Amino acid sequence: MKKEKTEQYESAIEVADGIYWIGFYDVDSGLHCNPYLIVDHDEAVVIDGGSRPDFPTVMMKILRTGVALPGIKALIYQHYDPDLCGSIPNFEALIGQPGLKIISDAANHMFIRHYAVKSHLVSLESIGHEYRFKSGRVLRFVNTPYSHSPGSFVTFDTRTNVLFSSDLFGSYGSQWELFFKLDAYCIECNTFPVCPNKKTYCPLYNILRFHQHIMTSAKALRHSLKQILKIPFMKILPQHGSIISQPNDFVLLFKLLGNADDIGIDAITTEKSGLSHEDIQIRFVDRGDNFNGN
Ligand SMILES: [Fe+2]
Ligand SMILES: [Fe+2]
Repeated sequence: MKKEKTEQYESAIEVADGIYWIGFYDVDSGLHCNPYLIVDHDEAVVIDGGSRPDFPTVMMKILRTGVALPGIKALIYQHYDPDLCGSIPNFEALIGQPGLKIISDAANHMFIRHYAVKSHLVSLESIGHEYRFKSGRVLRFVNTPYSHSPGSFVTFDTRTNVLFSSDLFGSYGSQWELFFKLDAYCIECNTFPVCPNKKTYCPLYNILRFHQHIMTSAKALRHSLKQILKIPFMKILPQHGSIISQPNDFVLLFKLLGNADDIGIDAITTEKSGLSHEDIQIRFVDRGDNFNGN
């Protein structure tokens, strides 16, 4: 069974018109990274290109699509983590084009440059939050601040109505499928996260758990979901987990994530401020501590 699954994911998979999943299906990993390639005539861009160890697999899949490497005009990074950006120097070396652009929010570029980047760093602000192919096809960028990085954003392909959501709608879990699938009874589940059918994992809980750990706060997550609701997407392509395309699943997931209060720091403290002036006064003044060792 596992072997069949591995074979199924050995090549790039076209998941929408001209959009390819070029990730690495690692049977031993609970966190699968999903880089994507968009091919538009003789041009291409890579979204969230992947980690350094995944690079040979990712590049092999790109080559198998038939794309000519100089045709890759831009690498888009929706935040600055190493699971997306680690392979930037490898991409630069193989593409070998001085005109290659690295597109991200300026807040991400501050950190992206530390991957020893040589290419031109292009900020979303400087291109009016959109990337235009020669054909006229437009990618729109929408900021989702603090979900989970200050400069995080999502990318909407206006031609296919695909939304590249980066870590949003991602998932942890050893049971991975490229396409999100819920059993009919999941919709009405009232024992969540324990499966009434005794499955050893719950795909919905895996998504919730991922957001609880990775996102900064319920406030930030809800703000981002609100921004995403305004986008006329039909399919969500996350950087981890599975591709989501069923309207029922969108409803379920937006409600699940939008109602969760225990996200990021909110799971640790609900205090508005855990620090009072009195705490500071007691520690540094009343107690008479000084820093001279006396
Ligand atoms: Fe991340
Ligand atoms: Fe990630």
